[in-house]
Amino acid sequence: MTDRYAVFGNPVGHSKSPRIHALFARQTGQDISYEAILAPVDGFAATVSAFIASKGGPVRGVNVTVPFKEDAFRLATQRTARAEAAGAVNTLSFDAGTIVGDNTDGAGLVRDLKNNLGCDPAGRRILLLGAGGAARGVLLPLLLERPAELVIANRTEERAARLALEFARLPECAVGAKPDAVGFAGLAGRAFDLVINATSSGLSDSEMPLPAAVFAPRCVAYEMVYGRDTPFMKQARAAGARVADGLGMLVEQAAEAFFVWRGVRPHTAPVLAALSRGS
Ligand code: ATR
Repeated sequence: MTDRYAVFGNPVGHSKSPRIHALFARQTGQDISYEAILAPVDGFAATVSAFIASKGGPVRGVNVTVPFKEDAFRLATQRTARAEAAGAVNTLSFDAGTIVGDNTDGAGLVRDLKNNLGCDPAGRRILLLGAGGAARGVLLPLLLERPAELVIANRTEERAARLALEFARLPECAVGAKPDAVGFAGLAGRAFDLVINATSSGLSDSEMPLPAAVFAPRCVAYEMVYGRDTPFMKQARAAGARVADGLGMLVEQAAEAFFVWRGVRPHTAPVLAALSRGS
């Protein structure tokens, strides 16, 4: 019987995950099916239960996207350290009555930076823009890479301060740089080697008040949103930075989930190339 998987979201119609996992399965010879399932905003757990009870092969796991990552966190009966730190779950695995919650977003970002963009976070000065769920989701994996510094900048400075304090206290972060927090005004006179936009400003096409000098020479500017040229990307390009969008992170977080479920790590380069071509 074919093992079954799905991504749950609302909306979910434009999700690239079924295509990505189909390409991974073909490449690695794994016999799986993977579909996209729309759940009502107040019906995540019930929709997952219905999928598990539906006819077909055994359901081994699901991916979770907006707005259900906190619901998935609560549904899990066990959670990985990176899911606990993220406060959100994007990958559930079902195994003999246990529901293991994991979060592969941060690992996906780090892999995209290191393997696809040649930008190892180790020893770099990192600026993380935003203090919401997207920023929280990538903080622990970034800190574990041992950057020289990691500054969280947020429009609402107090949210950044709270997040920095919380992560500075994590036992996993006992060694290495402690995150620091500023408001946008606090960025004056500072420069970074890697600037990551984890705000949702791109979705509303709004520009953030970033001094051009935050992008140090040879800086990589990473936009976690994909599929649009955001004001952040334009600002970074104008300041001379090398710019990447979040398509690589999407593929890498999927590869990490595939590895969690199947124990096999797919090659991401051909899949990323196929998606970039739009094929
Ligand atoms: P997500 O899960 O996408 O992180 P969120 O928790 O609502 O969503 O957080 C959105 C983040 O984007 C926040 O850091 C928010 O800043 P505030 O905390 O000050 O609200 C940031 N954000 C959204 N729109 C923005 C804009 N136009 N300029 C700057 N920051 C913005």
